[in-house]
Amino acid sequence: MAEHVLAIDQGTTSTRAIVFDRAGTVVATAQREHEQIFPRAGWVEHDPMEIWTNTEWVISAVLGKAHLQASGIAAAGVTNQRETAIVWDRRSGQPIFNAIVWQDTRTQPRLDALARDGVGDRVTEVTGLPLATYFSASKVAWILEHVPGARADAEAGHLLFGTPDSWVVWNLTGGTSGGAHVTDVTNASRTLLMDLQTLDWSDEMLALWSIPRAMMPEIRSSSDVVGELALPGTARELPIAGILGDQQAATFGQAAFGVGDSKNTYGTGNFLLVGTGTEIVRSRHGLITTVAYRLGDQPAHYALEGSIAVTGSLVQWLRDNLGIIDRAQDVETLAMTVENAGGAYFVPAFSGLFAPYWRPDARGAIVGLTRYVTRAHIARAALESTAFQTRDVIEAVVGDAGRDLSELRVDGGMTKNDLLMQFQADILGIPVVRPRVVETTALGAAYAAGLAVGVWSGLDELREHWQVDRRFEPAMSDEERARRYRLWKKAVTKSLDWVDDDA
Ligand code: G3P
Repeated sequence: MAEHVLAIDQGTTSTRAIVFDRAGTVVATAQREHEQIFPRAGWVEHDPMEIWTNTEWVISAVLGKAHLQASGIAAAGVTNQRETAIVWDRRSGQPIFNAIVWQDTRTQPRLDALARDGVGDRVTEVTGLPLATYFSASKVAWILEHVPGARADAEAGHLLFGTPDSWVVWNLTGGTSGGAHVTDVTNASRTLLMDLQTLDWSDEMLALWSIPRAMMPEIRSSSDVVGELALPGTARELPIAGILGDQQAATFGQAAFGVGDSKNTYGTGNFLLVGTGTEIVRSRHGLITTVAYRLGDQPAHYALEGSIAVTGSLVQWLRDNLGIIDRAQDVETLAMTVENAGGAYFVPAFSGLFAPYWRPDARGAIVGLTRYVTRAHIARAALESTAFQTRDVIEAVVGDAGRDLSELRVDGGMTKNDLLMQFQADILGIPVVRPRVVETTALGAAYAAGLAVGVWSGLDELREHWQVDRRFEPAMSDEERARRYRLWKKAVTKSLDWVDDDA
């Protein structure tokens, strides 16, 4: 039997393909970045055709690198940046507008109007989510309103909507000649259009945004064969047997399947998920309720999530917009040249503030500046902001659960940064645990696909793969931790107070 699984990870900044073996070890990786398009302040777009071309390229490249015959791969799993909205014409296969990315805040006026109409609580009751620009619905509505002819085409059944998983799977399974128009429950739970209880599109929510149901993909389980992908250069078709939104995939890859199991992923943003089992739990402290996974026709598992918009992308901003580092990984070296942030606090509210604040009108702020502060202090303040924002979310988790967390499991690219991990443990006052495989997003998608075709027997076998790389123990005094966090909260108030009257 084929022993390897291919994972395709369509992320916010790049698309990757990774081949895993049965032990969950990475065999080969290929990656390609795509352009981040910022047409105006607050707008963030991607070119869906570039994403699709990159997907084809990384699949070919990884198969070449892995030196595998096609027969050596049992299945493919797809994981993706969530919420990002793509609308395309099923007849031509062409997108009718760029992908509107999850970080984009252009639809704020529409959300404000809905909030004034008093529908916010009802939206949260049905979907588990707050009325926010973050989720897909307002982005789809914006495209239908602003692209000439779009509404008529949508109503005639010519247009399809999908998050990047749907777009990639539709293309991989044949596109205009019969591609599968599907998504999974985890991605659907991020659109603001799915009913969390029925796991189906909500007619009430579709009507609220005037989105025709004909545009919507079929909602499938996270671990199930949804179509076949023709492997480049061979006659063989490979089952696409799993789809998971990237944060749910990382949770799955961390083997955090149970009630109370949690993980925090450090990517473009940070996303902390805590499993609540088959129970739908509502947060009283600013977390959102989301689907964690659904295997075959078993009941769905849910999670509470603390979403932070800007963490890793702040390091890119230091590189691309300020030019104070040449490569993202240089941030650690630069930050280590100073002992602290020199009194500076950096609140990176570039897309407003997500959990637990949900304040789209907040804007970025660097406070505490004096003539003493150097670019090294700014780099350090930027790294520290990731840890402080995580503490904000942990406070919400603790508030909802009514008890402290004993440790924090982490993953994602930024967790290679030992300075940040140590500061994270210091500012939380609990150990931070980094696993051996930090590529847990792709691993989770591979697990979901492999489970569906029998590469792995079940969740117990997957739990055995998980191994610790390093445990970071808190070393800061309680007084210092309390002082630093108090100052961070003060910095956040500055960011929340900022109102651009001209916007
Ligand atoms: O909700 C957005 C999230 O899915 C993006 O993840 O890793 O692409 O930044 P990432």
